Amino acid sequence: MKRALRRGVCGPLLAALLLASLAPAQGGNRAPGGEVEVLHFWTSGSEAGALAELQSTLHRKGHLWKNFTVANGGGGLAMVMLASRVNSGNPPTAAQIKGAAIQEWAHTGALSSIDDVANTDKWNALLPRNVSDTMKYNGRYVAAPLNVHRVNWLWIDAAALRKANAKPPATWDEFFAVAEAMKKAGIIPVAYSSQSWLDMGTFESVAIAVGGVDFYRRAFIQLDPAALNSPQMIQALTTYRRIKQYSSNASSGQDWVASTSMLTHGRAGMLLMGDWAKAEMQAAGRRPGSDILCIAMPGTAHAFTFDVDALAMFQVSDRNKQAQRDLAHAVMDKDFQQAFNLAKGSIPVRQDVSLDKFDECARRASADFKASARRGTLLPSLAHGMAQPAHTVARMWDVINRFWSNDRMGAGEAAAQLARAAGQAGR
Ligand code: GAL
Repeated sequence: MKRALRRGVCGPLLAALLLASLAPAQGGNRAPGGEVEVLHFWTSGSEAGALAELQSTLHRKGHLWKNFTVANGGGGLAMVMLASRVNSGNPPTAAQIKGAAIQEWAHTGALSSIDDVANTDKWNALLPRNVSDTMKYNGRYVAAPLNVHRVNWLWIDAAALRKANAKPPATWDEFFAVAEAMKKAGIIPVAYSSQSWLDMGTFESVAIAVGGVDFYRRAFIQLDPAALNSPQMIQALTTYRRIKQYSSNASSGQDWVASTSMLTHGRAGMLLMGDWAKAEMQAAGRRPGSDILCIAMPGTAHAFTFDVDALAMFQVSDRNKQAQRDLAHAVMDKDFQQAFNLAKGSIPVRQDVSLDKFDECARRASADFKASARRGTLLPSLAHGMAQPAHTVARMWDVINRFWSNDRMGAGEAAAQLARAAGQAGR
């Protein structure tokens, strides 16, 4: 991350723009306890609502809560701002970061161990092993996990599907047939947001459908150039590009809230996106599982691409240590995990939380998460920073985003660039 800053990813102008986009710190009067400042990028109605659950818990404990909000879905810019805060010796108490980035930050020595809380609260027994491993550095917890998002979802407006006289698609061929039928029925088939993190979120699932789970592992986890620049990757890119002809014209640069709203309000038939979108649909009064169907992205029903949101804990002054411990404890509290995930569209990361109050899609996500873990098809999402360090992901995002935007860029060229982008990473 520091390297990204040195390379000029965040020039002074960008930094100024970013600072201008920060929401004012909230909190009110001095609290008798400590202070927690949380850096995050949760600005949509449902995201902010979910986070408010945590805020009230900390207030109840007598701590002052400050938001350090960087408005930007997917969190790319939030990571740049985080680097700038840490580099200037003023880290927040905690930051919403994920997978590989947690390890990177821990490696710089910026994170603080929360093992005392984790041991007392028995996190090892409550978390799936593949999640708890990513929350630890050198065997000690440095981050607290909030949830599990499934990335490989396809959402379909049930009314649009009926109008097109079509059935939920299980393969990409079926998907394009449904899209064609919707188009003929006068419906925009796909509400699409072309932003690099979202482009990759869709593309990684197309890669699973075309090449299979082992191919995904070789390409996106092992970064094997022979898989990245391969006939399967070219085929995946070609399939991915076909989505474009069925997408709304306004897709370029459109944020995820806007495309979700198109589906929610009947202005498009389908949406390819993780289940944070479900929270927005619910907030607008739509019922996931009946009004809006949730099925795995075509060709990926056997797999689960996961995205775990976590709060990584930074070094804080002694005065705020207890507030930080209370924050870690609150994140893994059973009732909080239920309330937060009901509002967020994700499923609890704690395995002992009842799903009785959750909708059908969340229950299906939970069953698929467990089944995928058993069969070895639980895959860390590349798009969401679960598989590779931030600078690697950013380079790969960029290739897919340019491929989507530029019709003159061939699939062969994009596959070659993807391999180069993965290879350059870390240098
Ligand atoms: C994801 C994040 C989710 C969700 C989404 C949109 O990367 O894990 O929590 O909010 O971005 O901002």
